Amino acid sequence: MKLGVCYYPEQWPAERWPVDARLMVEAGLDMVRIAEFAWAKMEPQPGAYEWDWLDHAVDTLAGAGLQVILGTPTVTPPAWLTARHPEMLRVDANGRARRHGSRRHACVNSPVYRVHSERIVRAMGERYGRDPRIIGWQIDNEFGGGRTARCYCDACAAAFRTWLRARYGTPDALNDAWGAVFWSQTYTDWAQVQLPDEAIDKANPSQQLDYYRFCSDSYVSYQQMQLDALRPLTPGFITHNFMGLYRDLDQFDLARPLDFATWDNYPTGNTERWRTFLYPPGRPTDRDDPRYAWDAGDPIVTGMGHALTRGLKGKPFWVMEQQSGLINWGKINQGVRPGTVRLWTWHALAEGAEACVYFRWRPTLFAQEQYHSALLRHDAEPAQGLREVWALRNERELMAAIAAEPFAADVALLVDYDDLWALEIQPQRQGFHYLRHLYVFYEALQRMGVAVDLVPYDADLSRYRLVLAPTVHLPDGGVVERLRAYAAAGGTLLLGVRSGFKTPTNLVTDRPLPGLLRDLVGATVTSWQSLPDGVSVPLDTAMPDLEGAAAYWYETLTPLTARPLAAYETGEAALVENGVGSGRVVTVGWYPSSAQARALARWLLERAGAAPAVELPEGCLAFRRGPYTIALNFTDEPRTVALGGEPVLVGPRDVAVRRR
Ligand code: GAL
Ligand code: ZN
Repeated sequence: MKLGVCYYPEQWPAERWPVDARLMVEAGLDMVRIAEFAWAKMEPQPGAYEWDWLDHAVDTLAGAGLQVILGTPTVTPPAWLTARHPEMLRVDANGRARRHGSRRHACVNSPVYRVHSERIVRAMGERYGRDPRIIGWQIDNEFGGGRTARCYCDACAAAFRTWLRARYGTPDALNDAWGAVFWSQTYTDWAQVQLPDEAIDKANPSQQLDYYRFCSDSYVSYQQMQLDALRPLTPGFITHNFMGLYRDLDQFDLARPLDFATWDNYPTGNTERWRTFLYPPGRPTDRDDPRYAWDAGDPIVTGMGHALTRGLKGKPFWVMEQQSGLINWGKINQGVRPGTVRLWTWHALAEGAEACVYFRWRPTLFAQEQYHSALLRHDAEPAQGLREVWALRNERELMAAIAAEPFAADVALLVDYDDLWALEIQPQRQGFHYLRHLYVFYEALQRMGVAVDLVPYDADLSRYRLVLAPTVHLPDGGVVERLRAYAAAGGTLLLGVRSGFKTPTNLVTDRPLPGLLRDLVGATVTSWQSLPDGVSVPLDTAMPDLEGAAAYWYETLTPLTARPLAAYETGEAALVENGVGSGRVVTVGWYPSSAQARALARWLLERAGAAPAVELPEGCLAFRRGPYTIALNFTDEPRTVALGGEPVLVGPRDVAVRRR
């Protein structure tokens, strides 16, 4: 596994660069990522490029033995550009144009921003593309970060109309696709179509979903513009730093044309943010969760970010920014104790990361991120982060051996952004979140030491013994056929609530539920219902360990060809299994609790003939890579972890590796 660090030479005097470069190499770092915010330094005046400083920085860093990754600086267009073209600034849903003074302030649909972005990318590519010291490129930085994926400017409105026209052809087809007859929304001319920002009451959910898709496509085409400019100029890799469970852009679409995917992993901050939609309300707060140490972040939440990034390309990924101490954008921004950064690095490796790049080398003395830590302290003395990297020097050989082993998962969890967005637009029940529904199964499997890939509907499913698709909300014939083919060939497929309810344009199907999925399920959903907190419907089943009641959301099933495995106290089926070809489809009619998801997952693994599940202690994870077992303990107490072979004692916030 390669290690690297993010560095901002433009923020330090050039005399300091050689000292930093030497310290980086002495710490065992292999790579350095630079330049992704330095547009104003590269082009201080329109068209007048200044490369001397960057040449010198590359000379210094590469001269010391580091490989260089260059970022295109398009996330920070300079002030002279935004002053000249204020029309390129993003506009929020209230119609307010954003001002200069931070980052991500330009709209990716602004023609003038695109022209200038392409120009700076091309200029960089021409200067550095063939330089062998530059191993690769990161395009832009965290597309859509800070919830900037959706813009409401005039350029977006015009581009949205063009996008709709290409999709639907005529206003009449659009009216049908959106059900525009409702409330007299009917359009007779494309010019009448608006962005769904200032709608009174709620906007039309079909219009909203198309707008979300359009925004995502806008980033895909903006990225493609940069790829087209850069590809011919460099043999190096081209990637982007994604944001794990970030929801506003289709990360599969964005990753498709890249060489591999990377993500920015901030376990404490991401845990705070993501658990709000991953865990049901009422779980302990992030700080008081007894299941992991207070400075470690929730390992299963972090792990889902790793697994999704791995799934973006179905291959090894990088962590392009790894938290290496306290951050500045969370609620608490707790410090990080000895061992934790090393543990995070090992976790990334165990999940299939090929490289880990720490954020950042030294904390800034000025501007927005003054309170954000780094490997060094503000006074340039080593911070805890650097000590951890030093400690890893002794483990690098073992890490390299593990990195050479493939990451193999028996289980896939299917993720689809259209389904996610449609349910975010119309959750119907407070607290119902598409990703929460996925997470309950993901968590169950992680706690049993079972590796899970998060992949899109069009992934090659044939390599998985078990495929979980908890909510296939807006299926088209193609998705249904893929799922059918997977099961028919001997696979085990799990489906869950709110499946098959909608059409791809976000209308309710007029078929008996679950719509296009009914043959696969082998049962009809005869009723569906959201339950108030505290109300539940008891379950009756012989499935081992499956206990309790259906809460939150439940659907009653009437079997056609399927056999019931559980019933509600009313006698209606709650869980059914349907034979499909040489495989099977199991459908869960309610929204399961964590304990119920564990029982279901255990039964499904056995049914699918997958690797047997084990019971890991809370706060611990375990992974297999080839002959290696990697056990990670995210708690403050020693824990015994058994994952095949001898049980291993793992110290607090420590890792243990065994070779078969
Ligand atoms: C990331 C971003 C970095 C830096 C970091 C701080 O989201 O890409 O530039 O701001 O957060 O944690
Ligand atoms: Zn815009």
